[in-house]
Amino acid sequence: MHREERAISCHNLALNAWQSLCQFRGSMTTADATHQPVLDLTQISRPVAHELKLVEEWLTTNLIDESPFVGELLSQLFASGGKRIRPLITLLGSAASLSDPAVDKAHSKLARVHIILAVLTELIHSASLVHDDVIDAASTRRGKETVNRRFSDKMAVLLGDLLFAQASICLSRIMNPVVVGVYGQVLGDLCSGEISQMRQHFSLKVDFDAYIQKSIGKTASLIAAGAHCGAILNARPDSEIKALKDYGINVGICFQIVDDLLDITSSTAKTGKPVGSDLRGGVITAPALYILEREDDMAKELSELIRTRQVENDEGLARAVAIIKAGGGITKTEALAKEYGDKAQAALSVFADSDAKKSLIDVIQYVLTRVS
Ligand code: FPP
Ligand code: MG
Repeated sequence: MHREERAISCHNLALNAWQSLCQFRGSMTTADATHQPVLDLTQISRPVAHELKLVEEWLTTNLIDESPFVGELLSQLFASGGKRIRPLITLLGSAASLSDPAVDKAHSKLARVHIILAVLTELIHSASLVHDDVIDAASTRRGKETVNRRFSDKMAVLLGDLLFAQASICLSRIMNPVVVGVYGQVLGDLCSGEISQMRQHFSLKVDFDAYIQKSIGKTASLIAAGAHCGAILNARPDSEIKALKDYGINVGICFQIVDDLLDITSSTAKTGKPVGSDLRGGVITAPALYILEREDDMAKELSELIRTRQVENDEGLARAVAIIKAGGGITKTEALAKEYGDKAQAALSVFADSDAKKSLIDVIQYVLTRVS
C-alpha cells in the first residue's frame, strides 16, 4: 500500500469509528459525573463529552504506522495520559459558535471536521512536547520515561516529525485554506517561542513583555488556533471568530503562567516532572522575574544564584525556590495568571449563554486552580 493510501486508510478507520460511535449518541448518561468534585475536567467536558471520546479513540487507536515499532511508540505516547485540554477547548469553541439551525442548518451541529480539528491540535501539541523534551534534555514526562531518554534524541526528533506529518494529513482533510494558514502560523510561533526562550536562558533582564510574547508563541498560539478555527469552519462572523481567538490567547497565556508556577510549587508526584526544572535549566519565568525586579537583597541573592549557575545544583536551586516563595513571587504570579483568566472570560461576552460557553468559562477556573 502506498504511503498516501495508508494515510487515507488510517483516516477512514477514524471515520468508521466516528460513524459507529455516532450510533450510540444520546445513550451516554451523565450520572457518573455527579460524583466528581465540583470543577473537574469530566464535568467541564460534558457539552462535548461524546466528541471528546471520539478524539481519544482516534489518538489511541487510529494512529497506525506500517512499522510495528512506530505504531507501538505512538500508542504508548497517547496512552500515557495528558489532560487533553487543547482538544477540549477546540470542541467547546466549535460548540459555542454553532449556528442557529433556523438560520444555517449546515453549521448547526458538531461534525467530523471539528473532531479532526481537535485531533490535529493535540497531535501538534504532542509533537512539540516530544521535541521540547529533546531541547530540555528531559528524562520524564507525565511520570514516564521520555522518548529521548528511552531511545535517543535522534529517535525523538523523528517521532515528533512523524506526529507533525500526521497533523498535516488531518489539516488537509479539513479542506479550509484559512485554517491551514492559521496552523501554519502556529508551527512558526511554536518554534519562535522556543527560540526566544532559548535566547533568554539565564538572563537576568526583567522583561515581562518578552516573557508574555514567548508564552504566546510556545503555548497560547496553538490553544488560540483550536479555540477559534471551529468558528471559521462554522462560517461565523468575524466578531465571534476574533472573540474565540482572544479567549484562546488569554487562556493560553494563563495556562503557561500556571505551568511556570507549578514548576516551583507542585511536586513530581503531581506533575510527573522534576520540580524546579525551569530554573535549573536557566528558564527564568514570572515567579523569579517578580523577585528580580525588586532590586533589594533578595533580588541580589537570586541574581547571584542564577548568574553563577548555582541553580543547576540541588542546594542552589532549593535556596532560589525559598527566596521566590518568601519574596512573594508565587502570590504575584497567581495574580498575573488571574489577570489573563479575566481577559479570557471578558472575550466571551459576545456569545449568548450556552452550556459550551459556561464550560469555556469553567476551563479558565480549572486552569487557574489545576495542580498538575
Ligand atoms: C513545553 O514547554 C513546550 C512547548 C509548549 C512548545 C515546544 C515547542 C517546540 C519544541 C517547537 C516545536 C517544533 C516544530 C517543528 C513546530 P515547557 O518546557 O515550559 O513545559 P514542560 O515543563 O511541560 O516541558
Ligand atoms: Mg520542557
